[in-house]
This record gives sequence, structure tokens and C-alpha cells, in this order.
Amino acid sequence: MKKVLLINGPELNKTGTREPEIYGTQTMDDIVANVRKRGNELGVTVDYFQSDSETELVIHIWEAKGVYDGIIINPGIFTHSGTHIRDTIAKTGLPVVEVHLSNVFARESFRHVSMTAGVCLGQIAGFKGFGYVLALEALVNL
Ligand code: DQA
Repeated sequence: MKKVLLINGPELNKTGTREPEIYGTQTMDDIVANVRKRGNELGVTVDYFQSDSETELVIHIWEAKGVYDGIIINPGIFTHSGTHIRDTIAKTGLPVVEVHLSNVFARESFRHVSMTAGVCLGQIAGFKGFGYVLALEALVNL
């Protein structure tokens, strides 16, 4: 595992100030910096992309094929509706770890369903920004 793409869906660029009681007070810039720091220690380069557009997310996931060795993704609200993202993840054949800042299972019932988790190696939810570091560890170790 040499190159990992971290992809975030809608609103995740506002992490730190967006409902901090749910998503934490750490900014996404700080979270990504921590993932990159751990990546340096593990010899992994981590690139980052965020978009509010499902189409742009799909394009980036597909273009990761042949360039990246794995993907860490938080599809945000598209987790619960994103069948296009699901099919694209499956199509790349890349190992993917799904991350959620919040414990989605302790929240509204519509958040208990993930369209995308079934085509991922696994899902990490509820550990705020540290979940992304755990996802990197999972990719490197599996
Ligand atoms: C989220 C959980 C989703 O239900 C929500 O729509 C988000 C963030 C999380 O990281 O906890 O945007 O993916």
C-alpha cells in the first residue's frame, strides 16, 4: 500500500464547525494532516478530495483505479442513497474503507443503512476524525 486516496462527500469540508457535538471540533484540515502524518510513518502517500457532487465523487473514485492502492471514503449523506457510488466502488476493485465521524447506528434510522459499506472492506463509525487514521491502518494491514 503506497498511495491512498481519501475522499469526502458533502459538507465534510465544514467539519469542526458543522454540528460539532455530533461530528467533533477538529477541522477536516487537521484530520487530513493527521492521516498524512501516519501515512508518512507507514510509507504511504495520502491524497485528498472533497466534493458536494455525487458525479464528481464517482469520477474521482473511478479515476483512482490504476493510480491508487486503496481508498478511504466518507460519502456523507450519499452513504444512505448513493447507489452510483456503490457501483463505482465495486467496479474499481480497489480495497475501500468507509468512515463515519459519528456513530450512525446511534442516530436516525435512515442513517443505519449504507448503500456503500457492502462493497467496502469494512466500515469505521463513531470515532470522529481518528476514524480516518484507523481506516489507513486497516488498509495497510489488510
Ligand atoms: C456522516 C454521517 C452521515 O449520515 C451524514 O449525512 C454526514 C456525515 C458521518 O461522518 O458521520 O454527512 O457520514
